[in-house]
Amino acid sequence: MGIFGRIINDILWNLNTSISSFTLHRITGIALVLFLFLHVWTLSAVFQGVEGFEKAVSKFNNPLGHAMEYTLFLAVTFHLLNGLRITLVEFLALAPQQERLLWAGLVVLSIMGIYGVILIF
Ligand code: HEM
Repeated sequence: MGIFGRIINDILWNLNTSISSFTLHRITGIALVLFLFLHVWTLSAVFQGVEGFEKAVSKFNNPLGHAMEYTLFLAVTFHLLNGLRITLVEFLALAPQQERLLWAGLVVLSIMGIYGVILIF
């Protein structure tokens, strides 16, 4: 089994809230970095004038584009809330409450997720 196979195996056999939130934080962090490339590339159409820019932006004005926007919204919101949780736990020594804070964050994420559906679709 290769290194990636071993990592995935380790994650799947040790699933708990800590490793799940860590994995999701890493996946969303890397996804946000990749999104930035798409974002800058799309917005660089600004150098092709108003028409070029509107054409580039309108490529995302369809159901797939909206689904991508919504996924991005969920990824940013999860990463933000979990990042704040990690920071609070580390700086305020809240380790005993870390799991409760995770669930509180997931409640906020769910509310934001419903709001996002109204906002984006
Ligand atoms: C929205 C506000 C954000 C907050 C509060 C936040 C917070 C954090 C924190 C606290 C960590 C360290 C996690 C740890 O110690 O295990 C982290 C990791 C990371 N963040 Fe963010 N972040 C934010 C936005 C972003 C953005 C916009 C990007 C991408 C452009 C990003 C990419 C990453 C990456 C790649 C990691 C490393 C993940 C890992 O090592 O597992 N973050 N973030």
